[in-house]
Amino acid sequence: MTTPVRVAVLVSGGGTNLQTLLDQLRNSPVARVVRVISNRPDAAALQRARRADIPTTVLRDASDAQELLAALGDAHLVVLAGYLKLVPGAVVSRFRGRMINIHPALLPDFGGLGMYGHRVHEAVLASGAKESGATVHFVDEAFDRGAIIAQERVPVLKGDTPETLAARVLAAEHALLPRVVLELARRMS
Ligand code: GRF
Repeated sequence: MTTPVRVAVLVSGGGTNLQTLLDQLRNSPVARVVRVISNRPDAAALQRARRADIPTTVLRDASDAQELLAALGDAHLVVLAGYLKLVPGAVVSRFRGRMINIHPALLPDFGGLGMYGHRVHEAVLASGAKESGATVHFVDEAFDRGAIIAQERVPVLKGDTPETLAARVLAAEHALLPRVVLELARRMS
């Protein structure tokens, strides 16, 4: 494929993972962010998209498969980056093998319904685990269950709080996600 792979990004929050993708893919011949979609009109990630002149869509109903499919349009690859809603089954089916999610823990541990943000790192610390990290996996019909594509590990340090661990994991996410997106895009090209 001579034209870059068209990437749509789903967001719900601050968008630091989106920002890393925007920065890393800006003039890439391999992959380009072509749309940013959110379930929340006030997501700061939308401002990041607008600043980068990327079209945005705010979903009226994140559980409506038709609405999400229309918003995804002709995207080849879909990236969930801090997206907190379950993807409707019809959308998972249409994008099977072409939809990925980044999770701030080493799946299959510390994932699933309700395991996002602060709670993930609290659970990791409470477990006494010596390491945590970021996981990129394919999206299927359940939260955080799809096949794992890649992981980036970080140490859990003495005295870590959920905040200090979250910051260390987020840095790993920012290293991992663009690498995986570019690798998948190369395979699709
Ligand atoms: C990140 O830890 C991501 O893994 C999780 O949401 C957090 C915030 O992501 N899904 P971002 O800053 O909105 O990209």
